[in-house]
Amino acid sequence: MPTTVRTRVAVVGAGPAGLVLSQLLADAGIESIVVDSRSRSEIESTIRAGILEQNTVDLLRAIDPGTRVDTVGHRHDGIELRFGDEAHRIDFPALVGRSVWLYPQHEVLKDLLALRLGAGQDLRFGVTVAGVDEGDPEHPAVVGTDAQGEAVRIEADFVVGADGSRSAVRATVTGSRSGGYFREYPFAWFGILCEAPPSAQELIYSNSEQGFALISQRSPEVQRMYFQCDPDADATAPSEAEIWDTLQARVPGTTLHEGRIIQRDVLRFRSFVAHELRRGRVALVGDAAHTVPPTGAKGMNLAIADVVLLAEALRALLAEGARDERLIDSYAERALDRIWKAQHFSWWMTSMLHVAPDATDFDRRRQLGELRSVVESEAGRTYLAEAYTGWPARA
Ligand code: DHB
Repeated sequence: MPTTVRTRVAVVGAGPAGLVLSQLLADAGIESIVVDSRSRSEIESTIRAGILEQNTVDLLRAIDPGTRVDTVGHRHDGIELRFGDEAHRIDFPALVGRSVWLYPQHEVLKDLLALRLGAGQDLRFGVTVAGVDEGDPEHPAVVGTDAQGEAVRIEADFVVGADGSRSAVRATVTGSRSGGYFREYPFAWFGILCEAPPSAQELIYSNSEQGFALISQRSPEVQRMYFQCDPDADATAPSEAEIWDTLQARVPGTTLHEGRIIQRDVLRFRSFVAHELRRGRVALVGDAAHTVPPTGAKGMNLAIADVVLLAEALRALLAEGARDERLIDSYAERALDRIWKAQHFSWWMTSMLHVAPDATDFDRRRQLGELRSVVESEAGRTYLAEAYTGWPARA
């Protein structure tokens, strides 16, 4: 017999989405249990993207007095787009009055875990979820095994899948683990962390003849950089010298500060949106509901935007004396509005900046025409700035 526990909301996944959701629910007086298959140290050391939209930063400041986004993070007021031998700065505050913050996801997670554990959140690591039992549709149950290998059953009034792109909850909502709209890309990113001073003050997104490169930062001592590679590339294959030669060739005009490479990985990417985001009393948020290619760093921001909508809907449904179903009924539609805009933006940045393996001379020249029509037009720059810094929440 499994150990059975009861809660109001069972949240699968202690990433940014699951943790922010548990905080917003607690603020509304709604109890939750959060489970994750990983350990706390695994969660805190997973290297992901580093850019937070203005909306995300405003929310973190509002929910977490201890957030380090303003002390460890850095505000960025623009990015640089490079192509041909041109460099163009997109000035966010001048165009849209908003900014972004460079603050890596694992630092956000350290803050959020400290916040939730400090508040006494029931947060269980090492729990592998097998699925959701909907025997009683009003009280779905998360079933799985805990860190000791014992069967667990968490009965709730609502279940949320915030468990990433390989979600165990998704099948309950969509009818299959994969059911969704998706597209793949014929390239991936080779990512490095290196011990070196920053090579630029702001991010450089470079479309070069040899392919895309992104120069990002982490701290005064550690930098993050990426270059377009084959999806089947082996992260261990190139020497450090080969990696630096590749990166350097793709950002002509800037001399990169080189240093010891302390981490390397190949990020395969695809675009995905689940066919359904909610069924009955089970809903999906974040990567469980959708994934975007990394160009433009929308992933975590989109996850948090989903959570803001879902928390509002769960408050209406579950808070003392509430039982208002209107917001949960419109959750998917309202979330999809931003999700598809972000899907478009991420696809657009990706296709505009990468060189497809089968690109013809026509394709290359058209792409440079596209880049020029963005940077030379205030309307073009404004669209990029608006999407990159994040669309304001709908009133
Ligand atoms: C980073 C990642 C991105 O995908 C991006 O568009 C910008 C920055 C990063 O890891 O720093």
